[in-house]
This record gives sequence, structure tokens and C-alpha cells, in this order.
Amino acid sequence: EQIQFDASRVKDFVRDHELEQIKAQAETARKTLIEGTGAGNDFLGWIDLPVDYDKEEYARIKAAAEKIRKDSDVLVVIGIGGSYLGARAAIDYLKPNFYNQQPRDIVDAPEIYFAGNSISGAYLNDLLALIGDRDFSVNIISKSGTTTEPSIAFRVFKAKLEAKYGKEEAAKRIYATTDKARGALKTEADEAGYESFVIPDNIGGRFSVLTAVGLLPIAVSGADLDALMAGAQAMRDSVKTTPFEDNPAMQYAAFRNIFRNKGRQIEILANYEPALHNISEWWKQLYGESEGKDGKGLYPASYDLSTDLHSLGQFVQDGNNILFETVLDVEKPMSDVTIQEDPENLDGLNFLAGKKMDDVNKNAMMGTMLAHTDGQVPNLMIKIPARDENSLGQLFYFFEFAVGVSGYLLGVNPFNQPGVEAYKKNMFALLGKPGFEEQAEILKKRLSE
Ligand code: PA5
Repeated sequence: EQIQFDASRVKDFVRDHELEQIKAQAETARKTLIEGTGAGNDFLGWIDLPVDYDKEEYARIKAAAEKIRKDSDVLVVIGIGGSYLGARAAIDYLKPNFYNQQPRDIVDAPEIYFAGNSISGAYLNDLLALIGDRDFSVNIISKSGTTTEPSIAFRVFKAKLEAKYGKEEAAKRIYATTDKARGALKTEADEAGYESFVIPDNIGGRFSVLTAVGLLPIAVSGADLDALMAGAQAMRDSVKTTPFEDNPAMQYAAFRNIFRNKGRQIEILANYEPALHNISEWWKQLYGESEGKDGKGLYPASYDLSTDLHSLGQFVQDGNNILFETVLDVEKPMSDVTIQEDPENLDGLNFLAGKKMDDVNKNAMMGTMLAHTDGQVPNLMIKIPARDENSLGQLFYFFEFAVGVSGYLLGVNPFNQPGVEAYKKNMFALLGKPGFEEQAEILKKRLSE
């Protein structure tokens, strides 16, 4: 079953000729993307990745995952940005809620924690305490091999591994996912003998979930990589050739640009399953880094429903009219609960007795979509068949392809991220990194003013 895009609720916001006009531009953008003739065309390795991946490495990823599943109670995945968001999103999406806390006979896999995605010492201390004396392995993921947050965390967990197992045995529990030839991490991996996996040169961090970056942690969770890749492959085959009218990625790219052209500034991605929270976090990086440049772009926001209807719902319904909404609808829940009859019926909810919670959830979703539409917030919808590997592979690829088309429609290079360097330069200068002395003087003066 394929993911569907549904724009039937935005008819009052978009005229037919507007869609007709953007169609030609979207076709040009797709051609530019597929033929590799646009800006950032040295970062298009993700387009054919679902078919054109390194089969030998793929087998090694599966073997490494099996080893970790056998010899470790815990896997620590160290990385930031594109080097961790996809794996975290996938594991939450594919596995039961509370994955790490579930009895291990329900989730037959190691606990998986993510580190190196902040600069909090307390977070690392708490994770060290949680691991305690248990057996663990580390997957350090960094394309550059020099990113501050993961590098600091790696020092901490490498020290714990070496203290527990000795240097030689520790090296067998460290898996490095990095550039194929360059960078500090590659040099260390080669010297110390860590098993290493490659982040291809032509795939940027935020497009890397279907490389070893995402695949190794996802495989450790016990998910079916073949089905994930098959889903991505099916979506690739479809969006590259399907006509505009029936093409979910082209439609999504077109509608979000129409709304942007009309002055909407924020796209809010909504879900009705807590397990999709981190899909939104992954999506925010993909869309924010790809389009937020040259003073342009939609701000990618997200919320979890119905939870946030009780907080942000007021703003969406009734506040500053700068939003449009894209709803992720998982059509078939992973499991469900039947609502019971209560003889006292003090809450007056006996009319729900016998109904499944998913039925209530879907009615909340439809009711909210209509209410927000009435509140002048257009609602797009992405219908996802189920929380399984095939759907997830489709979803990842759908969003990647759509952002390529959408970025070209916007007139930016969707594949670079010049803006993420600015804070790093300031941080290094303030911390006294050699070579940053002049900048340090300027910043310290500014801070003392
Ligand atoms: O998209 C990006 O380039 C960033 O978010 C990176 O993924 C992030 O900074 C991690 O970089 P690296 O993998 O080099 O450690």
C-alpha cells in the first residue's frame, strides 16, 4: 500500500489556476533534480540510494547489528543532526512505545540511547549511571568526524568501554560511521581497528537515514531493513515518473509553495500518534536546513495531537494567521484499546463504550481538521498505511524527494547548510581554540558592552 497525499480540504484556499501554474515549475524542478543539473548537484546520492547502495556494506551492517544484539544490553548511538535524527525517528516509529523500558521479552533487542546531541554534562552522567555495569556497545556517527558534541560524548563512552573491557576488547564494541577516507574519526577507526561504515560523499547528513547512519541502529532494534529499503525503492520509482496530478511528493512540494507564496510563514506538521514525534524532529531538520536560507523558507514546526490541542490548539485555531498544517495520519494503529462501559457514567462517556480508541482518535483528527480549516488554517494530509518498515521507507523517501523539488521551486540550493557554521565559530573562539584569537577578542568585547 502506498502513502497518499490528500489536498481535498484546501480547495477554498487554492484556485485551480494556481495549481496549474506551479505544475510547470514543479516539473522543471523535478527534471533539474533527477538530471542533476541544479544547485547542490554534488549531493544527490540519496536519489538512487534505495537501489544503488553498497550491498557488501549492507550485509556487514546486518552482521554488526546481530553481534550487538547478542553481546550488548545497551547500544549508545552518538551523533547529532543528520547523524542521529533519522535513526531515532525510525526506532520510535517502528517499535512499541517505551521501547527502552519494555520487558526484553517483548522487545527482543538491546536498549538504545542517543548521546552527543547536546552539550549537557548532566545528560551524559545520567546515561552513564543508567548503563551501570551492563554490557554495551557504541556507534559513533559523524561525517566530518570533528563535530564538537559527538566528539566530546565519544571521549566519555570510549573511556567507560576501555575501563570495563580493556582497550583491545573495547575496540570490538565501537562501530564508527563516517567519511570513507577523510577525517579524524576515520583515522582513529583505522588505527584502533573499529569496524567502520561509510557515509557517502554525495549524501548530506539530513538525507543519510538510509545509509549506515540510520541502518545500523535501526537494525539493532530488530527492524527489517529489507522492507525499509523496499518501501523507499517503491516511492523512488513512483515519484520520479508519476505525473504531477497523481504524484504525492510533487503535490506536497507544490501546495506548500503555494501557501508560502500566499504569505504563510510556518508549516506545522501534526501527528496523532506519540510514536511519530521524532519523525517530526527529523522532518524539521530536513526542511529547515534545506530551505531556510537566503532570507527565505517556511519555518518547519510540529506538534503532537491531541496532546497539543490542549496547549497550542488555541493559537492554531484563533491566533496570528501565519500557519498551514500538514497532518500525518497513520491509517492502521499498531494496537488498540476498546473503551469500556462504566456503570456510573459520571464522565458521560458511555456513548463511547465499545468503540476502539483509534476510532475516537480519527474522529478527533477529522474534527480538528475541519475546525482549523474554519479557523482559516489550510490542512494538507499525508495518509500512511501503517507503522511498519515499508511505510517508513516510503515516508522517508517521499519527504526527501519533495524537499528537493520544493527547494528548487523556492529558488535555493536545498543541499547545503552554510548557516550552521556561524555558532560553531563563535563557540570555538569563546572557548579559546587556537587560531580563533582575533574573533575571541571581538566577541568578548561585544559581550561586555
Ligand atoms: O545536516 C547537517 O549537515 C548537520 O546537521 C550535520 O548532520 C551535523 O552537524 C552532524 O555532522 P557530522 O556528521 O559531520 O558530525
